[in-house]
Amino acid sequence: MKLFQDSTPAKIILFGEHAVVYGQPAIAVPVSDVRAFAEVQIDQTLKAPCIRISDYNIEFSLSDKDPPDKAIHIIKAIHLVAEKTELSYPPSGWRLIIWSQIPTARGLGSSAAISVLLIKILFKLSLTELSLSKLIELSYELEQYHHGRPSGIDNTVISLEKPVFFQKGREIQIIKPQIFYFVIGDTGIGKKTVHVVAEVAERYEKNKKLYDDIFQSIGKIADQGLKALETGDREKLGELMNINQSLLEDIGVSSPELDQLIKVARDEGALGAKLCGAGQGGCMVAVTMSWQKAKSIAESLREAGAKNCFVTVLKGGS
Ligand code: PMV
Repeated sequence: MKLFQDSTPAKIILFGEHAVVYGQPAIAVPVSDVRAFAEVQIDQTLKAPCIRISDYNIEFSLSDKDPPDKAIHIIKAIHLVAEKTELSYPPSGWRLIIWSQIPTARGLGSSAAISVLLIKILFKLSLTELSLSKLIELSYELEQYHHGRPSGIDNTVISLEKPVFFQKGREIQIIKPQIFYFVIGDTGIGKKTVHVVAEVAERYEKNKKLYDDIFQSIGKIADQGLKALETGDREKLGELMNINQSLLEDIGVSSPELDQLIKVARDEGALGAKLCGAGQGGCMVAVTMSWQKAKSIAESLREAGAKNCFVTVLKGGS
């Protein structure tokens, strides 16, 4: 019997990936129509909580000594919440089913979405109120486990489910944008954020001055991006995305497949396009003048080899 269901959105970084790790501001927005879901069911026959990950077709009991490898993320989340909180949820008699529309390792925040979702579910199961700041704090700890030294932007935007102007160590600013249409194209190539971030760090160590300059330029683009979002200047946003993409190319995180999809989007009339997330694979995002244009560019991206395409609208900070 279903007890409750919850979900969390995917996200895209519009400006500032990588530079944000080095203290620059960045802008991320939720993708509300692409989500990870969880449902808790009551099943009194279960002697220990049981988890089913539908996408991998696996089910295991929390009492299993040797859980499947693909369950590591979930088990780590459950252990972390147990370590860091005083929650007490029923020790038996329930099943958690998880499924996700967010492709993994493509810069759309799939791991942060699952982390945030699990924390919310465990608090709900324990009938304990969860503040947004606690959710961000706990999900950041999980992000650290998965990504080494994350900036915290992914778990923040997904926890808040609102567009954010984010800078490490600064108060989070929630953005109230005008209406914008985006199309996201997935190269189908999975890249682990932790590896791409480590490669950038290696190059940074060899050429600090140059990289600091590039990161600062990206930070300035994020500042201007904030204004473009608030005033509804789609052309400006597109131009800024194109400049941000050039700088991401300079730090070596684009790829031929991303470049190809970005070119197709621009040739087909996007106002601007860039990779989103860690890069070297994963997804690109383009901004368009209309919903119709976003749909037609999605078609062209598919024809050009994109494995998935999502069209999404950003509006009013909701
Ligand atoms: O996890 P991704 O691919 O969405 O990338 C996150 C953005 C980075 O700036 C590359 C890393 C970070 O921790 O901010």
